[in-house]
Amino acid sequence: MTDHAPAAVVVLAAGEGKRMKSGLAKVLHAICGRSLLGHVLAATEPLKAAHTVVVVGHLRDQITDHLAEIGSDATAVVQEEQLGTGHAVRTALKAAHVPGEGTVVVVPGDAPLITTESLRALLAEHTNSAAAATLLTSELSNPHGYGRVVRGADGRVKAIVEERDADDATRAICEVGTSIYAFDGARLRAALARVTNDNAQGEEYLTDVIGLLVSDGEIVSAVSAPEVETLGVNDRVQLAEVRRAMRDRIVTHWMREGVTITDPATTWMGVRVTIEPDAVIHQNTQLHGATHIESGAEVGPDCTLRDTKVGRGAKVVKSHCLSAEIGPESDVGPFSYLRPGTKLGRGAKVGAFVETKNAQIGEDSKVPHLSYVGDAEIGERTNIGAATVFVNYDGVDKHQTVIGDDVRIGSDTMLVAPVEVGDGAYTAAGSVISEDVPPGALAIERNQQRNVEGWVEKRRPGSPSAKAARRARGQGTMDPTSPVENDEEAGAK
Ligand code: UD1
Ligand code: CA
Repeated sequence: MTDHAPAAVVVLAAGEGKRMKSGLAKVLHAICGRSLLGHVLAATEPLKAAHTVVVVGHLRDQITDHLAEIGSDATAVVQEEQLGTGHAVRTALKAAHVPGEGTVVVVPGDAPLITTESLRALLAEHTNSAAAATLLTSELSNPHGYGRVVRGADGRVKAIVEERDADDATRAICEVGTSIYAFDGARLRAALARVTNDNAQGEEYLTDVIGLLVSDGEIVSAVSAPEVETLGVNDRVQLAEVRRAMRDRIVTHWMREGVTITDPATTWMGVRVTIEPDAVIHQNTQLHGATHIESGAEVGPDCTLRDTKVGRGAKVVKSHCLSAEIGPESDVGPFSYLRPGTKLGRGAKVGAFVETKNAQIGEDSKVPHLSYVGDAEIGERTNIGAATVFVNYDGVDKHQTVIGDDVRIGSDTMLVAPVEVGDGAYTAAGSVISEDVPPGALAIERNQQRNVEGWVEKRRPGSPSAKAARRARGQGTMDPTSPVENDEEAGAK
């Protein structure tokens, strides 16, 4: 337990979230790789409360399952009917495992930008002022819809008045309650027992506890937090707003850690991403999951990486990478699709329109163009010619292809797995390789070319091709710039 460790944290998440118009519980909508509720729990977790309770009602099973899924220690307490925030907290405190005394922190489940730092400031003020309750408040330029914090002539908090119950003078107040509080547990229980639903919404307001405590002569303190931390989500427009704010926070953090981010406004990353100093992230890039970028690597523009590791000095451009490991100094893209199990050695290259899956590509080996590499192990300094396909699937099972070091796979080779190509071997362009190739051999699998002389003029008379053929015949020679010659060599480089 730390200094001001609370006895309990109560997270309010039973509301319907009507304006989301969603089959998914509001607090389970995700921003930057975590649910709204997950962000709130991540902020409260370092407080080391003895108990964390999530009040659930609407779509409660989804929330309970989610808590298990994210491995949270928080327990769900069911509020059968949503009779108001005061009723929600009363229900939470009734749950057998919540202790009778100590500090109780209340936070809404739909305000994901609250920070541990602000919660610590709240707890410190609460302890230092020996208050019965301490509010987290915020000055809003537009306080519409929020409960206003009413202070007396001495500047002390007197009450919170909900918008709907407020007169014009009260509505003019810009300091609002954020639904985040620290309470003395015993006095909170006693006050909650006296809260009524005699108000515009017919609900038991948690905010009424403040007025009751003040009239009992108890100390009520307040701490102010930046507006952005108190932003809540009621609809999908606000969901996008908090997502942008969270993105700004994450991206700013990494810039301060020494990462160059050329266009923060179009760079999105999740909370679990890690980046070393002197990495560069270019515009329109999304980094998800546990993606890790090492120093000197350059990612983007136009990349989506999930759970992918990018080694020192590697470059990834306009590519989509899932659970891949990109080695140091290697080169990916543009237009590459790296699927799970892809592992590139140092200095390897995967180029345009190449898809890889479960593929190990050794140091300095290259798959530069138009290929599919699935279930493969490729050695070092090997070149895979354009349009090579690792034919890994026979319709029933997947099979492995093993290619050695210093191999040259000719363009348009079909490697029918399971098959092995030994060190230093070549395959001829256009070959279907279904048998192992020994080290140093050239494997060639294709028919002898046959030219049917004069076929075009005979079978396509009058066509542009026939005319061209005739002209060429008139000159008595083949056009030396014809693109069809010299196209036979083993693989493109
Ligand atoms: C509440 C505060 C208001 C404050 C605002 C900050 C009250 C009466 N008002 O208003 O002073 O400015 O938050 O955002 O507290 N919930 C339950 N069970 C219920 C009712 C609500 O769990 O029976 C949960 C909701 O799911 C939500 C949170 O409590 O997460 C807040 O409830 P909401 O109805 O959104 O309160 P506001 O009107 O926003
Ligand atoms: Ca709300």
